[in-house]
Amino acid sequence: MKIVILNGSPRKENTAAMIEAFREGAEEAGHEVEVFHGGKMKINGCLACEYCHTKGEGKCIQKDDLEKIMPAYLESDMVVFASPIYYFAPTAQLEAAWQRVYCIGKPAKATKAALLLSSGSGAYDAAIAQYKAFTGYAGIQDMGVCTATGDENRSEAKLAEIKAFAKTL
Ligand SMILES: Cc1cc2nc3c(=O)[nH]c(=O)nc-3n(C[C@H](O)[C@H](O)[C@H](O)COP(=O)(O)O)c2cc1C
Repeated sequence: MKIVILNGSPRKENTAAMIEAFREGAEEAGHEVEVFHGGKMKINGCLACEYCHTKGEGKCIQKDDLEKIMPAYLESDMVVFASPIYYFAPTAQLEAAWQRVYCIGKPAKATKAALLLSSGSGAYDAAIAQYKAFTGYAGIQDMGVCTATGDENRSEAKLAEIKAFAKTL
């Protein structure tokens, strides 16, 4: 399976550790994993111009780093959204990428998804509700949600749990 991970964190710390554990497990299980660090990319918000759904035929009118993600996103069998919680929600960086893939509507090939969330003290409700609404809309299977809160971040036990989860996909 080709797995694309969209990472909304601007740092290479807690969410990045979750992603690496996930990647190790998935690769050991024979999957191909590509990670896009959206937190370090230049991805603007959607302009709602609807070019993508008219003349653009699925392509966004904005020329920015979303163009680096789209070829892999279109080819992926599974999409993983990863983010720290910022003020009770996924980061703006992840939201920008997530809302811009709207240019193709539902994922072209992906049939599976997962969500990785890191936080100081929780507050996952909004992120999980958004993710579940997305999987329902896209008709793709939710394979699971992994969270790491406070001291769980970068803990051996949590990273082992995420790796084990990724091996079951
Ligand atoms: C701007 C900002 C807002 C945050 N808001 C929350 C929050 O609402 N709830 C929470 O539990 N943690 C919050 N945090 C803490 C981060 O979610 C937490 O430190 C996370 O592990 C960071 O992940 P990273 O190492 O991948 O950047 C916030 C951090 C920042 C910088």
